[in-house]
Amino acid sequence: MSLTPATWTPLLTTRALGRAVNHYEHTLTSTNLVLKDMAKHGAPHGRLCLCEKQTAGRGRMDRQWSSPEGQGVWLSVLLRPSLPVENAPVITFCCALAMAKAVRQVTGLDAQIKWPNDLVLGGKKLCGILLEMGFDAQGYYVVAGTGLNVRRGAYPPELAHQATSIEEHGGVPDRGAIVAAYLGALEDALAAVEQQGFAGIAEDFRRSCITLGSQVNVIGTDMSFTGVAEDVDPAGALLVRTEDGLRRVLAGDVSVRGVMGYV
Ligand code: BTN
Repeated sequence: MSLTPATWTPLLTTRALGRAVNHYEHTLTSTNLVLKDMAKHGAPHGRLCLCEKQTAGRGRMDRQWSSPEGQGVWLSVLLRPSLPVENAPVITFCCALAMAKAVRQVTGLDAQIKWPNDLVLGGKKLCGILLEMGFDAQGYYVVAGTGLNVRRGAYPPELAHQATSIEEHGGVPDRGAIVAAYLGALEDALAAVEQQGFAGIAEDFRRSCITLGSQVNVIGTDMSFTGVAEDVDPAGALLVRTEDGLRRVLAGDVSVRGVMGYV
């Protein structure tokens, strides 16, 4: 079934998120690109852009994101948060937490967060999140793009060692129900961080974060180190215990990998 709004908006519990929707039945370059353009023309908080297939799906660190027709949830939502811009990075945690909750609620599968914002299932990547920020007369905005692998065909065979999908784990591949649940959970998480900062979601995040307690490699552009991920601090930074003491890792252009593999 396609993600035509009529199929899932009856499930929507939100006030703003997803109340204005652009759904593209056919090919789109990238929901992030299209929504960024809409944001530049004044689109409101909550506008959702989703499609069946992307030809130029974009991942973090300038990677491509495979997005074949009907195989996943490829969406972006425009957020104009009431949050100081320096706290905007916590929105990435809101998105990860919201998608983890949506997957659990709809499929019963225990998707977990790999800090800062990938979802994993059975040690492999299930979902990626790409946030892009811009500024206009209204303040700053965030285009929050989410790619969730639902069917087996969501990713190319050469990524099978590190990617997975809901279908492979026997979960109900109800994409519309996942979209509605994600938007509901994201609106709640945003409201919590708008009131309390990262503290508003910290406990939920810690419970869902598979990285905590694991030995990790932290790989940046000009450094790398190994340690045990102990906790996330009040700003959402990862605290990694190394031989030289506790190091604070900010979400950005670093990769955090398990020493035995992706997680
Ligand atoms: C990652 O590298 O892990 C992030 C992947 C984000 C992919 C999604 S699919 C919908 C939205 N549109 C894009 O072009 N990218 C994001």
